[in-house]
Amino acid sequence: MPLLGIIGGSGLNRIAALEDVRREILSTPYGEPSAALTFGRLRGAEVVFLARHGDGHVIAPHRINYRANIRALHDCGARDVVAVTTAGGILEDLEPGALVVPDQIIDYTHGRTSTFFDGVDQPLDHVDFTQPFCETMRGRLLRAGADAGERLRDGGVYGATQGPRLETAAEIRRMACDGAGIVGMTGMPEAALAREMGLCYAMLAVVVNAAAGVGGNRDGIALGDIRAVSGAAMKRVEVILGMVAGGHGG
Ligand code: HPA
Repeated sequence: MPLLGIIGGSGLNRIAALEDVRREILSTPYGEPSAALTFGRLRGAEVVFLARHGDGHVIAPHRINYRANIRALHDCGARDVVAVTTAGGILEDLEPGALVVPDQIIDYTHGRTSTFFDGVDQPLDHVDFTQPFCETMRGRLLRAGADAGERLRDGGVYGATQGPRLETAAEIRRMACDGAGIVGMTGMPEAALAREMGLCYAMLAVVVNAAAGVGGNRDGIALGDIRAVSGAAMKRVEVILGMVAGGHGG
């Protein structure tokens, strides 16, 4: 099996169960990735982990060097990538703690460098992005989730917003009209760059709050609650990642 790359988002800066850990600082033609790459064995399989926001969770979503991150994972041999993200739930039935493997994306971000094909060292090209996630990796994630005894939501539209502020209630209403079920800040351009690089990339989204104006959040979102939910949920995510790496769902 090809080397599995894992991108960790908010609340997942390391994987506790990694064995034989080795860290390597890589540089790419696009600059340095968010952090050193962490290589190790997870349930017997070689994986490489990258903390998307940096080791101390210091890099804001719009400042992340997505190109360097994806290129570094590619250059170290990762071909399969699981991207863990936190998200707000737009659909009312997606409660904090719900886990989603989305199958579609709407990109509401702006001003982010979003392609490798910028004509500087890679000539213009186009990639098909009709299905933005790799079905093989989505399937692996879903089966691993089932093996871990988790109920993962299969499918849904991830709306990528600019951040770092959370959305207004009206923005979320508009996104709901567009068909978005969850909202996060980092899925794009990451997913598109992964496609350009030919990686088999899928997302495991952790719902950590009801989105702005949804459910009990008519008047605001309690940020302290988000951290608590995320801390607990990431332990479950680590179990699922172990199942993915160890060949469950393979
Ligand atoms: N909006 C955008 N990104 C997020 C949210 C949210 O409500 N929760 C976690 N990441």
